[in-house]
Amino acid sequence: MTTFILNNEQIETNQPSGMVMADFIRYHQCLTGTKLGCREGDCGACTVLVGELRDGKLVYESMTSCLMPLGNAEGKHIVTVEGVNLRKNLNIAQQAMVDEGGTQCGICTPGFIVSLCGFVLSDHPKIVENAINAVAGNICRCTGYKSIERAIGHIVTKLQEKDALPPLAWLIENEFLPSYFTGIQERLEAIEPKAQPEITENTVFVGGGTDLYVQRPAQMLPAEIVHLYNRTDLKG
Ligand code: FES
Ligand code: FES
Repeated sequence: MTTFILNNEQIETNQPSGMVMADFIRYHQCLTGTKLGCREGDCGACTVLVGELRDGKLVYESMTSCLMPLGNAEGKHIVTVEGVNLRKNLNIAQQAMVDEGGTQCGICTPGFIVSLCGFVLSDHPKIVENAINAVAGNICRCTGYKSIERAIGHIVTKLQEKDALPPLAWLIENEFLPSYFTGIQERLEAIEPKAQPEITENTVFVGGGTDLYVQRPAQMLPAEIVHLYNRTDLKG
């Protein structure tokens, strides 16, 4: 059983922990906003945010879901492009991409949006250079990058208006993120940690999985996996 929060929904699933997260999102949750371009971690179309509690603080990082096993999501918050939508209207990053013509075929766009939302949630200084670095792993084959750079310019200008409100409250009030983000830390704290699975002669140890999931993702489905990514004691 893998327990985590996907956007605003608590997930408890018995799907194999070795399943690729992008497949779980698209084919088991029908969240098809997450795109698959290369399945090799190169294009960024499948980018999701992974929110994790570290020393009592909720920290988000962008990751390629095509190389991420489902089991790595245990106890975390996984955010897809659907999860940064405001429902009534586009968020600031989405609107900036539309206004500047930063999307054409649209395959890359959800990945760019998710990476940029990761940037707005990060502690990095809100300057254009850092925002561009945040999308360094996202490739666009049709738009060209100038329109995307202009969209990033709008996002950064808006971020620089931040006032004294706590960061998350400001991002919600200013339509960067939907309001459910405020309750996520508490909800993650309420997820009971699981016991480590027993190690047998068939156990496969998976860390990042970034080679393994390029080479043989199908073989990882039935594998008995210990997900080392979740072992905070090994992250020294
Ligand atoms: Fe290209 Fe995941 S599909 S990085
Ligand atoms: Fe087509 Fe970027 S808009 S790949």
